[in-house]
Amino acid sequence: MNNHATGSVTQHKRSSVSEKKTKRIGILTGGGDCPGLNAVIRGVTKSAIDEHGITVIGIEDGFEGFVEGRMREITSKDASGILGLGGTILGTSNKGDPFHYPSDGIKGIEIVDASMRTLKHYKGWGLDCLIAVGGDGTMHISKKLGEMGMNIIGVPKTIDNDLDATDQTFGFDTALSIATEAIDRLHTTGSSHHRVMIIEVMGRYAGWIALEAGLAGGADIILIPEIPFKWQSVFDKVIERSTHGKRFSIICIAEGAKAADEGAVVKETDMKRTDPIRFGGIGEHVANRITTDTGLETRVTVLGHLQRGGSPTAFDRILSTRYGTKAVELAVQGKFGSMVCLRGLRVTSVSIAEAVAQQRLVPVDGELVRTARAVGTSLGDE
Ligand code: F6P
Repeated sequence: MNNHATGSVTQHKRSSVSEKKTKRIGILTGGGDCPGLNAVIRGVTKSAIDEHGITVIGIEDGFEGFVEGRMREITSKDASGILGLGGTILGTSNKGDPFHYPSDGIKGIEIVDASMRTLKHYKGWGLDCLIAVGGDGTMHISKKLGEMGMNIIGVPKTIDNDLDATDQTFGFDTALSIATEAIDRLHTTGSSHHRVMIIEVMGRYAGWIALEAGLAGGADIILIPEIPFKWQSVFDKVIERSTHGKRFSIICIAEGAKAADEGAVVKETDMKRTDPIRFGGIGEHVANRITTDTGLETRVTVLGHLQRGGSPTAFDRILSTRYGTKAVELAVQGKFGSMVCLRGLRVTSVSIAEAVAQQRLVPVDGELVRTARAVGTSLGDE
C-alpha cells in the first residue's frame, strides 16, 4: 500500500528521493522477543509507507523465516493498534542463524550454512534493505549478511541491555520495571515470614537487570556475573540481617551469576540456538546453600519469561518508535551497515561492526555498583 499520493508537499519531496534508492524494505525480529518489538514494526511501517512511499515486507519468525522464504507485506493497517502490544506480530526465533542453520539430515539434525538461501530470498523479493531488529546474535548475523552484499540496518533489542554502542536497548526498561515490582512484592511476604527471599532474573552474561532492579527494589544482596561471589560473604550478610537487622533478606540474582569457585549454572545446552547456552538454576543453588549453611528459611522465585511478556513501558514505546523511524531515515539515506542507537538523550547510529565488537557488561567499579555499595547492598564479594 502506498499512501504517498495523499502526503504533504514535504512528504512528496522525501518520497521522490527514496524512490530513487529505497523502494522495498524487509523487516524481521530475531532472537528472544521483548516488549517494544511491535512498536518498532509500527514505527518502521508507518514512516516507510506514509512518509516515503516505501513498501514494507515482513519476514516471519526471524532468520528462520528468512532462510525458509516466509514473508508477507505489512500494510499501515497491520501496523495500527500494536504500539502497546507485547511480543511481535512477525514472530521470532533464536534458532535460525543462517550461518549455523539446523537442518534435518540423514543422521538427524545437521548444522549447515544456509546463508546463500537468505541472499536468494533477499534478491528474489526485490529488497533494497533489511531492517534487522534483535540483540547481539542478530547483529552478528547482520554483519555477516552485510559482508555478503545485503543492505542491513540494525535496531538494538534485548531485555539484557548487553549491546555495546547503545546506552540502552529497547525492552530493558520494561523488564526492569517488572523485576522491580516483583522485588517489592517479595519484600512484604519476606518481611512477614522473616525469610530469605531470592529472586532470579534474566540477563545472560550481563547483570544489568539484577543490578538495576536490585537497586530500585532495595535488595540486600545483588549477585551479578561480572562480580563472582564468595559463599561466606553471602552467608554473613543474611545472618547479620537475621540477628541484628530486619530479620529478612532480599537477594536479587542474575541468572548468569556464579560463585568465585564455581562455574555458572546452565539449565540446557542446545546447539540449534544462536547461543547454545540456556541459563537457569542459580537461585535454587544459592537457596539450598543458605538453608544448609545458615539454617535460615529461604524461598526462591524465578521470574523467567514474565520479564519479556506483556505491554512495554512508556519509555520503551517511545524508544522503539524513535528507533523504528530512525531506521527508515537511515535506509532512505542509504546509510547501510549501521545500527540505530541511543547516545545520552539522542537517537543516532553506529556501524554494526562497532556494535558487535564487544558485549556491554556492568563495569565492576562503575557508578551503579558503587551506588549499591554506598547504600549498604552487598555484591557478595567482600
Ligand atoms: O536474551 C534474552 C533472554 O531472555 C535472556 O535473558 C535469557 O537468558 C534468554 O533470553 C532465554 O531464552 P529462551 O526464551 O530461549 O528461554
